[in-house]
Amino acid sequence: MEYNFATRIGGLKPSAIREILKVTQDPSVISFAAGNPSPEAFPAREMRAISDDLFENHFASALQYGVSEGYTPLRELTMKRLREKFSIGTDDDDLIILSGGQQGMDLTAKCFLNEGDTIITESPSFIGSLNCFRSYGAKLVGIPMQRDGLDVDALEQALKTEKNVKLLYLIPTFQNPTGYCLSIEKRKRVLELAQLYDVPVIEDNPYYELRYSGSPIPTLKSMDTDGHVIYVGSYSKVLAPGIRLGFACANKKVIGKLTVVKQVSDVHSNLFFQMIAAEYIKRYDFDAHVAEVCSIYRRKRDAMADALQKYCADTLDFVKPDGGLFLWCDIRSGKDGAELCRLSGKRGVAAVPGVAFSVDPSVPVAAIRLNFSLPTFEQLERGSMLLGEAAREL
Ligand SMILES: Cc1ncc(COP(=O)(O)O)c(C=O)c1O
Repeated sequence: MEYNFATRIGGLKPSAIREILKVTQDPSVISFAAGNPSPEAFPAREMRAISDDLFENHFASALQYGVSEGYTPLRELTMKRLREKFSIGTDDDDLIILSGGQQGMDLTAKCFLNEGDTIITESPSFIGSLNCFRSYGAKLVGIPMQRDGLDVDALEQALKTEKNVKLLYLIPTFQNPTGYCLSIEKRKRVLELAQLYDVPVIEDNPYYELRYSGSPIPTLKSMDTDGHVIYVGSYSKVLAPGIRLGFACANKKVIGKLTVVKQVSDVHSNLFFQMIAAEYIKRYDFDAHVAEVCSIYRRKRDAMADALQKYCADTLDFVKPDGGLFLWCDIRSGKDGAELCRLSGKRGVAAVPGVAFSVDPSVPVAAIRLNFSLPTFEQLERGSMLLGEAAREL
């Protein structure tokens, strides 16, 4: 039959990354394209022990329906950690457990965006969020990224001139795809602008704890004095992505609305894994686990940065990121990143063209995104060498 799908999803294309990942199923391909955490960072043995205990002693509640706000012990433990470690959350705030951080963007967009409303984002930005906003028929306005975060003058201009700006979406720390961080000065300016134009800011912060060097920068949420910031966090990168657990911390009025829309979306997040996550935090040293994860990725980041320096310094320009999972490479010749990905693909190395993250994908981008968490050390070295060959051919 001829299916008459809603116009608001008409413009949605399968994510370029998912398409590239299909190619990377081939084991001979070295993939710098994924964004996946490394399985060696998953606390599988500990989760299994908790899981056995839950099935043995608590199956009746673990397999039952739960509440939309989330499993209370996990909510409390998450809130406590945010408050004590990162000064996130006030007495006016509340917290909801989500099915991954991605759901935070989806539910927030659902709560705030009418069709045709404007959302301002960094460009490039995380494709999952951009597509989410597109699926609500929003107008996306992209603000260029600089190495110290988005161009705040361009942001101010957009806030002045765009109509119906309902949300600002930022990944201020170890941004996906660039790995860049918004400087403290710019953070202050963003908050001032959010207050001046009275626009809520989604602070999407899944990589905050994956810091390998440099000093921590306060989150926007910890600097927010009047409830403008909707903070979205995730357990994907510090526990495991397959458990699909994230959270949002925001003013109680916002969390109340998110809870209502979550109810109609998926009732609640997977209770069994919420219980596993809560028990994990209670029984084990979560900070020590995060430190261990960081030590794995620090070595991988260093290996990729060293290899790129060795093989690609003449063709690619990059900043070694202080954290996160990605390294953004500008192509010195100014040529199209999509073409470089094609040439590297022929040599068995997958990377994602910069254009895949653009708010306006019709303009070519002379950059590519590389992931360093998933490849082995050998692949990081060999893949960088082959990428260097491709870049010289380009
Ligand atoms: C910037 C950003 N936000 C959100 C997500 C979604 O993460 P999850 O839904 O697994 O928590 C990702 C995943 O890669 C991401 O890079």
